[in-house]
Amino acid sequence: ERLYADDIEAILRLKQERNAVILAHNYQTPEIFHCVADIRGDSLALARDAQDLEADVIVMAGVHFMAETAKLMNPDKTVLIPDERAGCSLAESITAEDVRKMKERYPGVPVVTYVNSTADVKAETDVCCTSGNAKRVVESLNVPRVIMIPDEFLAQNIQNETGIEMLTWPGHCEVHERFTPQEIRQYRRMHPGVTVIAHPECPPDVVAEADYSGSTANMIDYVAKQKPEKVLLVTECSMSDNLTTLNPETEFVRPCNLCPHMKRITLAGIRRALENMQTPVTIPSALEAPARAAVERMLAI
Ligand code: 13P
Ligand code: SF4
Repeated sequence: ERLYADDIEAILRLKQERNAVILAHNYQTPEIFHCVADIRGDSLALARDAQDLEADVIVMAGVHFMAETAKLMNPDKTVLIPDERAGCSLAESITAEDVRKMKERYPGVPVVTYVNSTADVKAETDVCCTSGNAKRVVESLNVPRVIMIPDEFLAQNIQNETGIEMLTWPGHCEVHERFTPQEIRQYRRMHPGVTVIAHPECPPDVVAEADYSGSTANMIDYVAKQKPEKVLLVTECSMSDNLTTLNPETEFVRPCNLCPHMKRITLAGIRRALENMQTPVTIPSALEAPARAAVERMLAI
């Protein structure tokens, strides 16, 4: 605790000196999530709340694509990522050239890209989505089929919900692809009455075993409102860690998988980022306008 206290004190002081805000994804560890974050949320909230910030500096306690999105929304501000290696298996699964080839193959079919993607992939996109608004975004297009990339499982889950045909891409989240329906059934046997909530990046046969599926923010709302006695969050480990203190009456059953990318962000790393103003995110100027337009179209829906 003492170890954390030094870093927390330093970060709170540096935030004032630099006029900085810290945006933290729900998968950040409790000492980041509860002690230094100014804004916490799912990918949608982080993109939306990055829009009207007064600060000069934004520190993204999350992964690289989230920092890029914050930079797209704030081209004149300094956006820092405390560890540039904090990537994402989904963002790394596809290139802009891959998207161009898909568009050639399916001319006229709209391209919906998960925000878990690089700026150059977003620049080839009609509209972005997150797991929190994917259904709404896809339905707003009023078409029988869409190209939905790069998360194959999210696309299949949304196809199951909407009946809209998804042309997709074999990208997977390395955290959520590891859950299996057998594992969920075993936990139900061990914890009778447990409420199971699965993230839509899970394979469809895992989502089919769940009582509810939603983005990390939707999961948080569900637990706060429904107050289940026991809950199993089929997602990244820090979600249960962060929610335990907020929902003392709920027991969190924990099978979870760690995201090695999210875990590259630490209190010490955030402190160093603010001390040395490292590492600023930049976006090639040719990509800025088309990538920002894809995010803005999503936020307008
Ligand atoms: P959400 O927080 O938008 O549900 O996304 C989960 C995730 O895996 C982010 O990388
Ligand atoms: Fe990417 Fe999955 Fe990690 Fe989120 S949890 S950053 S989708 S690898």
